[in-house]
Parts: sequence; C-alpha cells; structure tokens
Amino acid sequence: MEVLPCLSVALDFVSFSRLFESQLEIAKIAEMIHTASLVHDDVIDASDTRRGKPSVNSLYGQRKAVMAGDYILSVASAMLARMRNEEVIVILCQVLSDLVQGEFMQLGSKENENERFAHYLRKSFKKTASLLAYSCKAVALLSGADDDLQEVAFQYGRNVGIAFQLLDDLLDFVASSNHMGKPTVIDLKMGLATAPVLFACEKFPELNPMIMRRFQEPGDVQKAFEFVHKSDGLEQTQFLARQHCDEAVRVISSLKPSIEQKALITITDKLLNRSK
Ligand code: FPP
Ligand code: MG
Repeated sequence: MEVLPCLSVALDFVSFSRLFESQLEIAKIAEMIHTASLVHDDVIDASDTRRGKPSVNSLYGQRKAVMAGDYILSVASAMLARMRNEEVIVILCQVLSDLVQGEFMQLGSKENENERFAHYLRKSFKKTASLLAYSCKAVALLSGADDDLQEVAFQYGRNVGIAFQLLDDLLDFVASSNHMGKPTVIDLKMGLATAPVLFACEKFPELNPMIMRRFQEPGDVQKAFEFVHKSDGLEQTQFLARQHCDEAVRVISSLKPSIEQKALITITDKLLNRSK
C-alpha cells in the first residue's frame, strides 16, 4: 500500500517536468522571434553590427538577411504549432503582429505634441514589451494560472519591457558603440524622437519642428543631441524606467514569496543598472 503515495509523487514529477519542458519551449520560441526581429531590424536600420559582431546583413547582404530572419521565424512557428495549444498560439501570434505594427508606428511622427509621448509608449509596448508581456502570460497559462494570475504575469512583462526600451533609448545617448556592440547615437540620425528628446522638448520647444522634420536638416542631429544633454531628459527617462520597474515589482508582490519571485525582482534591478 506504500506504492500509491510513491506513484503520486512520480506522477507529480512527470507532470512538473512536462510543464517545465513546455515553458522552456515558450522561452526558445520567444528568443527566436526576438532574434528574427533583430535580423530584420538591422536591415531596416542598415546596421553593420549587432552584439559586438558583424550583423547578418553586413556579412551576407540584405536579401539573405531578410530570408534568414524569415527562416528563423518559420522554425519558431513550427515549434509553436507543435505545442498544440491554441491559446498559446494566439497569444504569441499577437506578438508578431505587434512587432510589425510597432515598426510602422516608429515610421510616423505625431503632429500633435500632446499625443507624442502616448504614441511613443504605445510604440514601445508593441515593438519591445509585447514579446515579454505575452511570453510571461503564455508561461503562466501553461501552468494553469487563472485569468488574474495571467494578468499579473502580463503586467510584469509589460512593465519590464517598457523599462527596457526606455533604458535602451537612454543608452543610445550616453553609451559608446564599442561598449554596446551596436551603433549608438543612431536614433536621431534615423529621425526618431525617443523619450530623452520628448522630455527635452519641455525645456527646449525648438525641438518640436526638428521632430516633425525628423532631424533631416543639416545640424539638426547635433543640436537635438546638445538640447537633450542640456535638459533633464535623460534623468526623466531613467526615472520613468524606474517607475515601470517599481510597478513590475508591485504586481508580483501578490505572489507567494519564492526564489522565482526574487529572481524576477533581480531582473528589474539588473535592467535599471545595465550599462549596455
Ligand atoms: C530593435 O529596434 C527592433 C525591434 C525590437 C523589433 C523589430 C521588428 C521588426 C523589424 C518587425 C519584423 C518582425 C518579425 C517578427 C520578423 P531598435 O533599432 O530600436 O534597437 P537596436 O538599437 O537594438 O537595433
Ligand atoms: Mg536597430
């Protein structure tokens, strides 16, 4: 009669390890979607380096880079289909559509100054935070979490993702290309008005027409760069990133204390203190 408890422990172990495997699969798929999007992004941005190494487009040209990105995406899609979980498939497909919409949103500038920051945050969600938010949600869903707990996971990922993008946009102004392993001071050259510029506008409204013409006139990039450094745009960006990290920590404070919860908090600390 001792067999039954042993059997139940063994069954628990099997189902735990199956759950772990499926969650690991989500992590792999998310990483592949991320990689594919960066391979495509380097084509769009004509970037020669990525993570300190030559980018795919610089090594093999644009056409092969686009197809390499597509290939990674197709393998990730097959892995997702093999999970045979319709809800997870729908959740991760939303990420793909958000990534593309985010890139499109980045191409446009809002005429109305009051709408610019909200547009920037919506774009940041779609381009960066969606992948984290929906991956966290999918992992929670697989574990049998109810809607409320899935929402906790989603909000943690959303806040961490937006904080990550804010830091990325800040580092573009302060870090060197060598240190980052990718080109820096690139956003202005690409015509992008990110958080540091949008905050700097409060002190230097001269930035508004430059934003509208996407820093295309000679001297715009240099002037905008100086305005940002003379304003408190970088500090405000850091402050907003901290607020999103605090919110991420707040939402997971409803979870039972655990090593995993601690690790999630550590991620927010690392994110805020990252220098690349
Ligand atoms: C990095 O932007 C880019 C992204 C986070 C997303 C790019 C998305 C696409 C190109 C749409 C295609 C999507 C798929 C799934 C293939 P960045 O230029 O601001 O950052 P960087 O400095 O690291 O290059
Ligand atoms: Mg880029």
